[in-house]
Amino acid sequence: MTGLVIVLAFLALGAAVVFVAMSGGPQGTRRRLSSESRRGTKGVGLAVGAVMVLFGVAVPGLTFALSGDESDGPAGLELNAVQTEGRELFAENCSTCHILSASNAVGRVGPNLDVLRPNVDLTLDAIANGRARGAGQMPAGLLQGEQASAVAQYIDLVAGRVR
Ligand code: HEC
Repeated sequence: MTGLVIVLAFLALGAAVVFVAMSGGPQGTRRRLSSESRRGTKGVGLAVGAVMVLFGVAVPGLTFALSGDESDGPAGLELNAVQTEGRELFAENCSTCHILSASNAVGRVGPNLDVLRPNVDLTLDAIANGRARGAGQMPAGLLQGEQASAVAQYIDLVAGRVR
């Protein structure tokens, strides 16, 4: 898809070159610029402005919109390498007990993480110390170190953002 955008951009550039050539080449354009009325100059200014808008806004915008579709994360969310690892670890270690739509997790032992939206620190604390406050049991130390951190960062990104 990104390739298509680039092709379109170059087609537009080619059309602009042809347009300048047909209207007497750069010299013709310059001659007209100096001799023609202010209305003509304004027209050229508008054309230049349109080209700048096309390349400055439309092309990057389109590229961004289309590349969003290519993201392998849930609902177009971009996952970095750590968050991608966290997603896998969540499926293996947490999904049986928690709801998290981004992982299609429907466990009902613990709280719904899409509603709770725990930040990184809260998730790390829950993993390290476990939870047993009367609303079920979550064992301590399900994951350690970088793995715990990866899951926490994944949840922080996706919780509550996918329906
Ligand atoms: C065996 C079921 C079970 C598993 C597996 C499990 N949890 Fe939990 N989790 C719970 C329960 C139950 C609670 C709530 C306990 C309470 O508050 O009494 C909880 C609470 C939480 C909380 C909220 C803590 C708070 O203070 O509000 C977070 C965040 C959490 N879990 C994240 C995770 C993550 C991340 C994983 C995977 C590494 C995981 N859980 C795995 C059962 C589980």
